[in-house]
Amino acid sequence: MKLQETAKLMMLSSTATAEETDGLGIKTKVGFVVGFALGFVFMQAMVFLGGEADFRQLFTDPSSAAAKQVNPLGQAFEASLRNIQDAANGTTKNTSRVATTDALAKPQEEQPAMTADSLFQLPFYIYDNELDWSVNATVTRGTNQAELLNQSGFLGYKHSDDYWLLLHAKQHPMRTMDPSKADLFFVPTLLSAWNAHGYEGDASKNKFCAHNGICNQKLLERAEQVLQESKWYRRSQGRDHIVVDTHWRKHWNKLPYSRLLNCNSISFENLVPTDGNPKGHQIPTGGRVHIPTLYVGRQCQDETNKTHDFAMIATFKPGNKNFLDRAHICQWLEQNNHQQNYTVSRCGGGDMCPALGQARFGFHARGDTWGSNRLMDTFLSGAIPIMTSPEQRKILPDFLPWEDVSYMVDLSNSTSFDTFIQSILQKTPQELAEKRANISRHRDIFQTKSKGRQFDLYMHKFAQMLELY
Ligand SMILES: *[C@@H]1O[C@H](CO)[C@@H](O)[C@H](O)[C@H]1NC(C)=O
Ligand SMILES: *[C@@H]1O[C@H](CO)[C@@H](O)[C@H](O)[C@H]1NC(C)=O
Ligand SMILES: *[C@@H]1O[C@H](CO)[C@@H](O)[C@H](O)[C@H]1NC(C)=O
Ligand SMILES: *[C@@H]1O[C@H](CO)[C@@H](O)[C@H](O)[C@H]1NC(C)=O
Ligand SMILES: *[C@@H]1O[C@H](CO)[C@@H](O)[C@H](O)[C@H]1NC(C)=O
Ligand SMILES: *[C@@H]1O[C@H](CO)[C@@H](O)[C@H](O)[C@H]1NC(C)=O
Ligand SMILES: *[C@@H]1O[C@H](CO)[C@@H](O)[C@H](O)[C@H]1NC(C)=O
Ligand SMILES: *[C@@H]1O[C@H](CO)[C@@H](O)[C@H](O)[C@H]1NC(C)=O
Repeated sequence: MKLQETAKLMMLSSTATAEETDGLGIKTKVGFVVGFALGFVFMQAMVFLGGEADFRQLFTDPSSAAAKQVNPLGQAFEASLRNIQDAANGTTKNTSRVATTDALAKPQEEQPAMTADSLFQLPFYIYDNELDWSVNATVTRGTNQAELLNQSGFLGYKHSDDYWLLLHAKQHPMRTMDPSKADLFFVPTLLSAWNAHGYEGDASKNKFCAHNGICNQKLLERAEQVLQESKWYRRSQGRDHIVVDTHWRKHWNKLPYSRLLNCNSISFENLVPTDGNPKGHQIPTGGRVHIPTLYVGRQCQDETNKTHDFAMIATFKPGNKNFLDRAHICQWLEQNNHQQNYTVSRCGGGDMCPALGQARFGFHARGDTWGSNRLMDTFLSGAIPIMTSPEQRKILPDFLPWEDVSYMVDLSNSTSFDTFIQSILQKTPQELAEKRANISRHRDIFQTKSKGRQFDLYMHKFAQMLELY
């Protein structure tokens, strides 16, 4: 059996749980354990424990941070969340829904496709058959009626980059409609949406469907079949194919064989398909390239009105050592051992906005995993990120020099923390202005929804790493 046929997932840490600050307020208790079942061809790389998350929670609480956050879609998004809640409550849907969601799908910031400044310069093809899961895409949660994906609230979710990158792919100037002219193939399956909704464990209740009502596992099976039948896929076994697969949850790895897995991917942090080799970051013989997700961030309004120095809005899991950094940051800021002169708009849970927008600096400390949308939220809200570990940079794509757009605090102990705080308060206005200018220069990379630059950079990077230039 070929290694590539046994592609399986593996994460390089042994246990983890879902990031609890899921963009739309997922409070899932689902955990996953990763094992390296060496020697087992069809190893189950990830075993899902616990009950499945209540998917209504995903989109319901309008008082949650997510609902209050203003993103580029602004009020439309809030209104959409309200509508979603109406739907969850079983009341009649607001008739302004269609107008609202039109606005959702067409953010005001949206720009026409870039032209001259596009970095990626190779013709690429987007499958326009059943692999395009954005066609008639619907989600069903629990006993709710099916809703269109683009009206479901998913588009504000931190793992909605599958949707947004596809949107920008379709507008990219290097797109060709002739597959015989393409150097790269973009597979328009929406695996993040699929993983967010297409619950295998509760397939009767939670569904992700596309086309003529093909749902969940069947959708995946159909995609495998379409790829198998594609002469372009068969030609390369996926070597020149790219798929977006950024959700942390990987239900599809239950398939014994996955052509989707044998594509290059935009992946979740360091979670990439492997053949089970615990040292392998990539399928050893496949030579596939996996570039980590940037997460879809959200923005607080009035991000230029800085009234405070520091903010960190996050969840806390007392007793979980992965969350210790977060606890220390708030504790040590509060203690202010050296009587330094600073203010904190918010350190703790609750609403991200306006606190993050009011702060000059935003801490980005690990939770369940090294990454999260918090870093992007911080950039978009006009705050300078303070990262807490070099590991956080390793799970990001190297599109930009992260040290030029952030600071790094040493959280070894309260002394090292206080020293850092002192040093940052003493930064000259010139240095801070330069840091902010560095961030501004790259800001469009984080505007996943409205700007095509992120897609362009990913494709350029794939082309480089696959040595196509
Ligand atoms: C419907 O939603 C719109 C936008 O959120 C709101 O302005 C309007 O008042 C709502 N109408 C009803 C009847 O709830
Ligand atoms: C939906 O129901 C919840 C719980 O009963 C309630 O708190 C909330 O206000 C309702 N939302 C709407 C929009 O009616
Ligand atoms: C939303 O999705 C549906 C079904 O795929 C599509 O027909 C519709 O055009 C989409 N709406 C927008 C505003 O993109
Ligand atoms: C999308 O849904 C419409 C209405 O249900 C249906 O007529 C059409 O065939 C579907 N499109 C595809 C590509 O399945
Ligand atoms: C800036 O924020 C402060 C505190 O939230 C508020 O009082 C003030 O009006 C704001 N200024 C501007 C120009 O928005
Ligand atoms: C603290 O900083 C504020 C604003 O930067 C300033 O107005 C105030 O005088 C400072 N207080 C002390 C005790 O240095
Ligand atoms: C800003 O970016 C430049 C590289 O473009 C870098 O040399 C410089 O150190 C950065 N400035 C700050 C304050 O990080
Ligand atoms: C705090 O951490 C720093 C840097 O890791 C270390 O050099 C120092 O000895 C530590 N101080 C205390 C009091 O533990």
